[in-house]
Formats: sequence, C-alpha cells, structure tokens
Amino acid sequence: MNQTKAFLFDLDGVIVDTAVFHYIAWRRMANTLGFDISEAFNETLKGVSRMDSLNLILAEGGVTLPEETKLELAARKNDWYLELVSQMTPADILPGVTDFFRELKVTGIRTALGSVSKNAKLILARIGMLDQFDAIIDGTKISKGKPDPEVFLKGAEELGVSPAECVVFEDAVAGIEAARRAGMRTVGIGSPDVLTDATLVVPNLTGLSVETVCTL
Ligand code: G6P
Ligand code: MG
Repeated sequence: MNQTKAFLFDLDGVIVDTAVFHYIAWRRMANTLGFDISEAFNETLKGVSRMDSLNLILAEGGVTLPEETKLELAARKNDWYLELVSQMTPADILPGVTDFFRELKVTGIRTALGSVSKNAKLILARIGMLDQFDAIIDGTKISKGKPDPEVFLKGAEELGVSPAECVVFEDAVAGIEAARRAGMRTVGIGSPDVLTDATLVVPNLTGLSVETVCTL
C-alpha cells in the first residue's frame, strides 16, 4: 500500500463553488458576441485555463477573432468574474471542508493547493483559507493547464513528497486526468457517472475521514 504524506486540493468546486461565477461571467461575454452557452457546456470548462476556456467558447459560438481581441475579452470576463468573487466570504466554503481541514491539521499530512486559476490566492484570502496550505500552486506558477499533470507534480515537488504519496481532490474530469497522469490517487468531488476515473467519488467532503483517504 502507498504511504500517504500529502493531500493536494483543487480550488474551484472542491473548496468553493466559483464555477457558477465563471459561468455567469463567460455567459455575459458570449451574450455580447450574440450567442449563449449552456450549463452542460460549462461543465467542459471546469479545470480549463482562462484562455483555453475562451477558445472553447468561441469555437462553440462559431466565432473567430484576432488574438488581441481575445485578450481584451478574457480581461473583461475576468473583471466581471472578480466583481462576483469580491462578494465571497468564509460562508462560501463548501460543506465539509472546514471540518476536514481541522481533522487534517492534527495528522501531519502536508497540504497543497493545485489550481489553474490565476485568482486562487485572492479567493483563498476572501474565504479566510490562505494560511491553510503548505504550498500553493496556481495559474501564475504553471505553463500548462489540466489535464496536463504539471500543477500537481509541482505541488508534490514543493512539498518534498513523491507523486505516489499524494492524494488529489478534484471536481473536474480534466483534473482527475491530470492527477492520474501525475501518478496520484484521486478523490473525485461530484458524481461517479461523471468522474469515472477517480479512485473514490464523494458528493462533498462531509463525513469523509482522513483515514479513509489515506488508505485508498
Ligand atoms: C479553474 C476553473 C476554470 C477556470 C480556471 C482559470 O481551473 O475550474 O473554470 O477557467 O480555473 O481561472 P482564472 O481565475 O485564472 O480565470
Ligand atoms: Mg475544480
């Protein structure tokens, strides 16, 4: 059995639900271009970087734009997104997270954030969790988004542990794939019908014990 030394957490959809804010902001942008995006389509954007998301959305709307305009659109979407994020408080932390971290802290297991978001630190500060991680790998530290394993491999490296000693918590299909490619076990947050490749799937962290995760 693998020894477990570290837990690596995705942010959006695991610690907080910012996916809904991303959706509102991307939808607003799509609407200004004359098309709409569905909630089901939004699922495919989870864990995908800002520019990759924009390219997928433009392809969905059948719109081709020069690079400069795309950068402007991405910046505008981010402004709208940050307006929504600025209203977040610790009350937005997802069910079970606070208790799970409380249990985790007494076990000596190391923790890292592994998010593609460039806004990760700002969000952690808003919800009062910036000091909860031994390492923070975010969109400013990586060159490739999920499903590339870079974000999680960097997390393990910064914590000084090997991939086999890590468990990743993820809500996105792309994130589960990234963790698997990094050689890590996974706890999928969501539905087993969607997160088919996760080692274990739970609806949220409520009632999940650190010991259960360690023995996956
Ligand atoms: C996370 C979210 C994605 C988002 C990405 C980049 O992975 O799941 O939906 O596009 O972060 O976020 P950012 O805050 O940098 O635009
Ligand atoms: Mg996520």
